[in-house]
Amino acid sequence: MKLSRRRFLALTGATLAAGAVGSRALPGAWGARAANPAQPTRRTGDGLKTTLEARAANVQVAGGSAALWTYNGRFPGPTLRLREGERAEIDFRNGLPEPTNLHLHGLHVPPGVDDAFLAVHPGERATYTFDVPHGSAGTYWYHPHLHGRVAPQLFGGLAGTIIVEGPADELFAEAEEHLLVLKDVALEGGRVAPHTPDDWMNGKEGDLVLVNGALRPTLRPEKGLLRLRLLNASNARYYRLALEDHPLYLVATDGGLIEKPVELPELLLAPGERAEVLVRLDRSGDVALHNRPYERGVMTGADMDAAGGHAGHDVSGMAGMEHEAEPEVLLTISAPPNLRAAALPGTLVSVPVLREEDAQAVRRIVFSEDHRAARFFVNGRAFDHRRTDVTARRGDLEVWEVVNEGDMDHPFHLHVYPFQVRSRNGVAEPYRAWKDVVNLRAGETVRLAVPLSSFSGKTVFHCHIVEHEDRGMMGVLEVKPG
Ligand code: C2O
Ligand code: CU
Ligand code: CU
Repeated sequence: MKLSRRRFLALTGATLAAGAVGSRALPGAWGARAANPAQPTRRTGDGLKTTLEARAANVQVAGGSAALWTYNGRFPGPTLRLREGERAEIDFRNGLPEPTNLHLHGLHVPPGVDDAFLAVHPGERATYTFDVPHGSAGTYWYHPHLHGRVAPQLFGGLAGTIIVEGPADELFAEAEEHLLVLKDVALEGGRVAPHTPDDWMNGKEGDLVLVNGALRPTLRPEKGLLRLRLLNASNARYYRLALEDHPLYLVATDGGLIEKPVELPELLLAPGERAEVLVRLDRSGDVALHNRPYERGVMTGADMDAAGGHAGHDVSGMAGMEHEAEPEVLLTISAPPNLRAAALPGTLVSVPVLREEDAQAVRRIVFSEDHRAARFFVNGRAFDHRRTDVTARRGDLEVWEVVNEGDMDHPFHLHVYPFQVRSRNGVAEPYRAWKDVVNLRAGETVRLAVPLSSFSGKTVFHCHIVEHEDRGMMGVLEVKPG
């Protein structure tokens, strides 16, 4: 076994130079720098094999060199392109000075493979082998999931995108595809700034708000119809995205395509969320992608001391480093001359109807906070890997009513089993979509339809402000076979 593993490593090393599978984005479309560098990936008759090594590396960030934690020395990590139905094998190695692991965020794969309880120690390796589900074409990602250390490791730079391709991609044959990884960082003397006590309360935001690791890059497309894959890979920063003078046409959410494009004036992406939008450029020249201010209930130290630990909000938004005035520019799209009118696809795919009447169980999951201690809870208790919080049966459809009793937003996330949002505060969701992250405003209740299909085993659900997850806001779901 060991020998063949070594031989495999040698092979993938060799393909590095040959360049790879890479992105469908046109070469040279990015003004600032390459958006999706080639990766050490090998596609064989029976699927995709790749290696990922978590390790420290110096990378260029905002015009300077920064010591980050990376996958394969890249920031963001290499983009893995998988195909529906194929076998994928990721040979993972931990080159960090502390334990970590790999989480395949959003993929419907067995809990025993996407194992949040596994610790891969320094110098050790683990192999992640799984079949890419049919019908899952969409945008996913990978990042560390070692409880207690997720926040420093993710903020340190460890995140990459997984793109699943499928027959449905034909719908976008006319569009030029680009991936935008939204991730902020804060540097101090060329290193990642450490977490402060306030960061453990609010979730850490960085002052460098980067797109594919670059500060305010320019995208120079050749076509007038763009398909943008958006990933919020930030610890805690929300993105309220709007494109100057252009609507966004939502075509996919976390778990893939929706039924038809939905025109949106702006799009909120909470930590962990993905979306795909079409953009129809209607004139040449520059178009800015803005990040509008968003109030998610961040608190200051003074708030936390006040009123017996029941915090007030920082209304100025200063702690979130956002100001009311000018929206921040994340990216400039420089539209080409002589644009041809581009048509949007009409219908996309069908998303199954899940009926609450068919549910075998209805559960209530409550998020709450202790501001003073910066501790976070699910149903009144902090995470304990030895405790099972929810026991369910494989094949069942369940309704989960998730309640945010806290004073800040919390994005709820469930591993392995994609769900559909039924309603938010009693208001029916306007379209059907597969999700794995749903944001909850303070005081909000959402109802989810959760099909626990295909796999049994133990997995987790948690707040995707990863500091909150590290500080207790996570629970264990055990799905028992039939
Ligand atoms: Cu993206 Cu449990 O996480
Ligand atoms: Cu996840
Ligand atoms: Cu939270």
